[in-house]
Formats: sequence, structure tokens, C-alpha cells
Amino acid sequence: MTSLTLFVLCGLMHICRGHSEKFPPNFKFGAATSSYQVEGGWDADGVWSRALTPSHCGRRPVSCSVPLMGLYYDDDESSHKEIRGKGQSIWDRFVHENRDKIANNATGDVAADSYHLWREDVRIAAEMGLQFYRFSINWPRILPTGFVNEINEVGAKYYSDLIDALLAEGIEPVVTIYHWEMPVKILDLGGWANPLIVDWFGDFARVVFNLYADRVKTWITINESVMFCDYFYNIGQFYKEPEFAPFLCNKHVLLAHATAYRIFEKEFRPKYEGRISLSNSVIWIEPASPKDKQLAELGREHVTGRYSHPIFSKKGGWPHSIEKLMLSYSLKQGYNQSRLPAFTKDEIEFVKGTADFFALNHYSTLMIRPAQQGESGKWFLSGSPELNAFLKNPPNASYGVAHDLPVYPTGIRRQLAWIKKRYGDIDILITENGFSTTGYNLEDYDRINFMKKYLEQVLLSIKVDNVSVIGFGVWSLMDNFEWLSGYKHKFGLYEVDYENEKRTRTPRASAYFYACLIKNRSLHI
Ligand code: NOJ
Repeated sequence: MTSLTLFVLCGLMHICRGHSEKFPPNFKFGAATSSYQVEGGWDADGVWSRALTPSHCGRRPVSCSVPLMGLYYDDDESSHKEIRGKGQSIWDRFVHENRDKIANNATGDVAADSYHLWREDVRIAAEMGLQFYRFSINWPRILPTGFVNEINEVGAKYYSDLIDALLAEGIEPVVTIYHWEMPVKILDLGGWANPLIVDWFGDFARVVFNLYADRVKTWITINESVMFCDYFYNIGQFYKEPEFAPFLCNKHVLLAHATAYRIFEKEFRPKYEGRISLSNSVIWIEPASPKDKQLAELGREHVTGRYSHPIFSKKGGWPHSIEKLMLSYSLKQGYNQSRLPAFTKDEIEFVKGTADFFALNHYSTLMIRPAQQGESGKWFLSGSPELNAFLKNPPNASYGVAHDLPVYPTGIRRQLAWIKKRYGDIDILITENGFSTTGYNLEDYDRINFMKKYLEQVLLSIKVDNVSVIGFGVWSLMDNFEWLSGYKHKFGLYEVDYENEKRTRTPRASAYFYACLIKNRSLHI
């Protein structure tokens, strides 16, 4: 697509449809990816050598003024030791050891090859006129072991170049620090179930801030904890201990996020501007019948509130209803206390207020009613039977999003209103929303329809409900590795040709639609 074609196309369409309600000037349109899902280069850069010692203050990327656990870069060649370029993440290991668990035995070894083709990614983002591009940092690409005593400078430079190229095109980089790429060594030490992860994550975040806070102004610490704490633990993926681990994970995620926030606040904010949050939730919950209203509210608190209430509510700590639910569930199962670990008073204060905006991934809506005999489900729920009866059938929903989730646009407006009602008039960034197709197909009119309908609801939320929604990130800029579905479910505005070594990116109809929408800032393009 050339800019001239786009300009003429959008102009004509706009004149034909006439002027209509616009998105407000502070509302930004973007798109997102995550590192494992697009980068490839899983073992890139071979053996890399550099050691860290307390002796010398070195050069960029790690500044001398901020010690990393008392360690500085050492420029003395003689003290170098051998370190691999990139360490393995749990996904590298999982896909290699469990090919049969991924659709078509796929891996993310090459994926869309963004590790080599990042200039292409910037080009297509610019072509569509994106205002922001959200991507994530692969933890072991920067810290091969996960710990800060070894830094892979080549990996650090990769993100630095990407950030510079985006800024040169006027696209804001939005950086997710953790989108599930845990270094294997950290998992082997218990991962999110080990309380020390709070500091390990804080140290990693400090390295990332040191490297990029001079240029990145919007940060997401952690993406969709409900997926890796509840879902991955419960299905036994990566983690083998579903009895306590998911509950420990809940608490450690919040402390880790807050630690990163406090580090930024104390060590970086004096020098750099920057807004931080964590990306929350995926699903809105509706009652199956009027008598299930209370249950639906409990479901919302469980899925969204558990990770939001401790940060955004005035009181802090777990939502009361969830504390009660978890206690009764644990007692029923023969424990003498709740398996959801309590926060201390200090921890409540430490976590409270550690977000500058609310970040939300929203894809779908589910209905809830009490579980019937013999029914059990594992989604999201840390095993609690009260919340196991989700139904995939809101009225008039069509189906389409990967994993057969219902398309129910009203859900996003209700979710946004719920956040405002619960946590006050806070800025909300929709970090993800998207639609999946299968097979190679450039004419993705269903995706356009989905985007229109969801964005219509977002506009209503802004204009009618006065919710301060400040941006919308399409998942995804391009097709990518959709975790257990491999490359089967395609979310991209751009199609990636996986048959071709060049991984050519081709705009789908939805890319043209989005480009026009961004240009006109109106849905009637
Ligand atoms: C949310 C996750 O953040 C992302 O990694 C995933 O690909 C999308 N949902 C689509 O399932």
C-alpha cells in the first residue's frame, strides 16, 4: 500500500460517508505483539562474552550511575567469560519438549522472524499510521540466566534499535516487560511460586528501565497474569504443582509489579517521564439469568478484581468477596486456612497506587450461572467450584475469536464502565483487542466488522459514559505464534507468509481499514 493510494482511498470514503463522531485527540491507535510470538531468533547470537564485576564502570547500555545489585559493566577484556547470547525461556523449552501439545507441532523458533525483520515491522506500523506499537522484552534475551550478573548486550541493542526506529517514524514504543518469557532457570527455582521472584523481577525491570527509560514513556510491567497464574498452572503447563502455586503466583505477581513500579518511581522518575501499569483481564462476565447477578459480580472480582483491587482501590488488598470465597473453598477442601496468601499491612500499602493508568486486554464475554452437579472447569478459576460454570453463549453473540470465544461488543463497554465505577475516573488504555481467522486470507471482512463493532462501543463509552479511554491496541500487528494453537489462529492486520523464508508481511483488508480509521479518527471512513 502506498501512502498516496491510502490518502486517496481514505479521502474518497470519508467524503462519501460524511463527517461523524470522532475519537478525541488524546485517544491513540496502536497495535501489539509479544516477543516469543513474533521474534524467533530463539538461540540467536551464539556465544557472547562479557562479565560484570564491581571494578569498572562501563559503557552503555547499563549506566554506571545506577548499580545493578552492586555490579557494573567491566570493559577489561581479560576478565571476560563465556556466556550464551540468549538464554532459553520456558516457551523455548516447552515447545521443544512438547511438540505434540502445539497445533501442527509448531514452535516459535523462527516465528515472524522479527529478530531479523524488525525494520519491516516498523515499516508496516508506519504504513498504517500507528500512533503506538506495543512489544515485549524477552527476559532471557537480555539476561540469559534471568539474573543480572550476565547481560547479553546484543539482545539489549536489538530492542534499543527497534525503539529508535519507531521513534524516528513518530510511533510511540509501549513496552511490556513480561509477556510470559520466563528464563528457564527461574522456573526451575519455582518461577512465580517462589517469593524471591519479586526481587528477581524487580532487578530485571531495573535493567530494562536503565536501558530504555530515556526513550520509552509507557510501560506495562506484566501481561495477563490471570493466564499464567490460573490457566497455565491449572492445566499443568510448565508448572507441576497446582495446589498452592496458582495462589502464590497471584500474590507474587502483584508484589513484583509493585516492586518494578517503586523502582521506577524512586530511581528513574526524577530523570525521566514515564507511565506504568500492568495489563489485566481478558473477559467480561454476564449473569446467565437475573438471579445470577451476584455470582457474575463475584466472577468479575475473581478474574479482574483480584489483580486490580490491590492496586486501584482506595482500601487496597484482595477484594473482600474473593478473600471470603478462597477461605471457604480452602476450608471445604480440608485446609485450615485460605490458600490465597494474605497481604501484610505494609504490603497492602506498598502495592496500593502502583499504576498511572488502567491497562486492559479485552476479547470476549462469558455468561455465568451456578455449577450443576458433575460440572467442573478450570479456566481462570484456581479450582473454585462456585465459579466453574461459565457458558459461552451471551445472547446474540457470534463466534470467531480464537478458541471459539463469543463476539459480544457490548461487553467491552460494560467492562469499561465497571472499571470506572470500581476504581474512579482513571485513564484506561485498551492494550489488546482482536479477532482471529484461519488459513491464508487477505479479505478479512469479519475482522473489520469485529473492529468496527468493538470500537463503536469504545466510542460510546467515551462519549456517553464519560470513561477516559486513552487508546486502543489491536492484537495484532501481524500474524504470530498463538501459543498452544501454533500458527493456526491468525490475529494479524498483516498476513505473514510462513511458507516463505522471507516471512513476507502483506496487508489484509483490515490493515487498510485501520489505516483509514487512524487517518480520519472516525469509524465512518
Ligand atoms: C492475549 C495475550 O496477551 C496474547 O499473547 C494472545 O496472543 C492474545 N491474547 C490472543 O489470544
